[in-house]
Amino acid sequence: MGVAAQVLKAMESSSAIRKAFEDGLQLKKQYGEKNVYDFSLGNPDLEPPEEVENIIKKIASSGEKGAHAYMPNAGYMETRAAMAEKVSSEQGVKVGADGVVMAVGAAGALNVIFKAILEPGDEVIVPAPFFAEYTHYCANHGGKLVPVSTKDDFSLDLDAIAAALSTKTAAVLINSPNNPTGKIYSENDIKALAALLEEHAKKGRKPYIIADEPYRAITYGGKKVSALFPFYDAAIVASSFAKNLSLPGERIGYLAINPACPDKDELFAACVFATRVLGYVNAPAFFQKVVAQAWKVPVDYSSYSERRDALTGVLKKAGIEFAEPEGAFYLFCKVPARKTDGCTDENLFCDYLKEYRVLAVPGTGFGKKAWFRLAYCVSKDTITNSLDSFVQAAKNW
Ligand SMILES: Cc1ncc(COP(=O)(O)O)c(C=O)c1O
Repeated sequence: MGVAAQVLKAMESSSAIRKAFEDGLQLKKQYGEKNVYDFSLGNPDLEPPEEVENIIKKIASSGEKGAHAYMPNAGYMETRAAMAEKVSSEQGVKVGADGVVMAVGAAGALNVIFKAILEPGDEVIVPAPFFAEYTHYCANHGGKLVPVSTKDDFSLDLDAIAAALSTKTAAVLINSPNNPTGKIYSENDIKALAALLEEHAKKGRKPYIIADEPYRAITYGGKKVSALFPFYDAAIVASSFAKNLSLPGERIGYLAINPACPDKDELFAACVFATRVLGYVNAPAFFQKVVAQAWKVPVDYSSYSERRDALTGVLKKAGIEFAEPEGAFYLFCKVPARKTDGCTDENLFCDYLKEYRVLAVPGTGFGKKAWFRLAYCVSKDTITNSLDSFVQAAKNW
């Protein structure tokens, strides 16, 4: 009897967000919910749009026979066709339903992809900082995540990626808009990454590019997220409706394979098989029906941009530096140098912020020391009321 040592080790090293969350519960008990400024979780606080709620009600009351039955592991054909239309419009390339597999959120899609493509010991390169769970998703399937640095503005550092490439590289995983920086990788950077991997492929193994893009729709100032498929054939998109339609608990997402991918059919079959043997069997039936209709519903994200502006205003007043987010709902901030000794330890600083009832996540969990993350999918009051805490905390640090 006993829990596997590797799981215990992984749990120990990935407890930053959970710890912030648990400390938050404690602080809220002590000071009251309203007096704690909890920026730890990326849980969208917008309700799903009314039109989506109406679609949910309509489907729930349709009385359709067989609506709860097993289905083909890839998902309902009508839903896959709708996702194909969505991805075609985003990628500017005609994607067919035969390249789409419905998934249990973007997280499920990534696990399915890794299961399908990773040999034991294979590596997945990721620009840091990155979504902390990637490490575990790779390890789940015998792979190793290899973080590489980004430039000072968090754009792709092609030299760093080139230096990390080897015959073990199965994929490069990109996430744009990025969690935790809010960075959107430019089309030029995507093209340059594609060219780099084409060059590398001449030596033998061609890595996939996997674009994890659950935040694609949430951008600011009219910014657009670049396509990938026109520039690189061995490309896969993983996405979900967790953030754009505020449906994270419904666990509905998909993966889409570039129709130009040289091993498209085999990869598709492997992803369908992985969906089955990982025990997902298929993505949730009810919400497949929902997103087949709801994916086009327009959503107003202006409240995220208002809150982004409110929080950046607070940080400016406190003199805390941050990377201006272009999308998603996170602010990645620099730990100010401690006045006495210049210390910029992110764990110490996040612990210290708790004295001011502010909850933040240390950058270590995202592969970036001396930084910390604030999720601003919280009420505007939480942001405005946190001003004094940030100002005092920065002053006394
Ligand atoms: C970058 C990134 N990828 C994937 C996920 C997982 O998304 P889902 O809830 O759709 O599985 C998240 C969730 O926060 C995320 O931030």
